[in-house]
Amino acid sequence: MRPVSEKRLSVEHEHRKHAIRRGWFWWLRWENLSFMEPVLGGFLKLCGLYNRGFGNVLNVRLTHQEFAFENLPDAFDGFRILWISDLHADRIPGLLDKVLQLTADLPRDIAILGGDFCFHHYITAVAAENAGIITRALRDKSPVYAIFGNHDYSPLAEVLRAEGATLLLNENTAIERAGQTLHIVGVDDCHYFKAHDLDLAMQGLNDDDFKILLSHSPELYAQAAERDIDLYLSGHTHGGQICLPGGTAVVFSTAAPRKCIRGLWNHGKMTGYTSGGAGASGVPVRYHCPGEINLFTLRKCPKQKKHSQTPR
Ligand SMILES: [Fe+2]
Repeated sequence: MRPVSEKRLSVEHEHRKHAIRRGWFWWLRWENLSFMEPVLGGFLKLCGLYNRGFGNVLNVRLTHQEFAFENLPDAFDGFRILWISDLHADRIPGLLDKVLQLTADLPRDIAILGGDFCFHHYITAVAAENAGIITRALRDKSPVYAIFGNHDYSPLAEVLRAEGATLLLNENTAIERAGQTLHIVGVDDCHYFKAHDLDLAMQGLNDDDFKILLSHSPELYAQAAERDIDLYLSGHTHGGQICLPGGTAVVFSTAAPRKCIRGLWNHGKMTGYTSGGAGASGVPVRYHCPGEINLFTLRKCPKQKKHSQTPR
């Protein structure tokens, strides 16, 4: 169990002064223009679109995906992972209850909280309380693992761990079944805090181990594929959150390519899945981009990889 890194703590201390400096136009990035959120929210209210967008956020769905691997240890054929990311529920009344309803009787082997408990870029008492509530509810039915996102703050570590979650801060853990092992690797946020350390997180693992990487954002896709990660689970993008009819994202806040914005993708031999996330941030609205929590099933595949997912 690693402590929260100095890197994350120093960025937390800088708070809003920290900016995403990526590309020559970094100062024009959505995330660096804090005034844009109230401006957009006000504009949507003026246009009469806000309430519809907020209602769309509460319409979060459960989706099912199967991933098949030739190298999956036999004992993990049928292993089910519940993935919940991007709750942001402290500014979205009703969302946590909806997610709890969807997951209450859902059979699974483990549950993973993929980061972003807070709506804002600071922690609120409600966000901490929500993190405790959902961890406790999930923990009653299955082991719970968690990682931090770009909206999460160090006091949440104590909350998550106190409620029984295994919080992975650049570290890995093993799940044993019938003498076989599946390795879960979790990194800290690589988008805003840049507190990730994939090499540290993978310490002690071998090339031929079956490895699932939990990273809030998909932007470590190239490094992960180089390090023989088998399955890369992420969120962060909200699938674009505000999309054109048909689901094309207008803006997405990640350095990963468009193929990694939502759903199933591949890079080299690695399989990746980016969840559209449960909630919303910036402005609590969604258009043409429903929120999702995911039930993933791992399958042993004798020949070629085959994946399936429910249509969006
Ligand atoms: Fe998020």
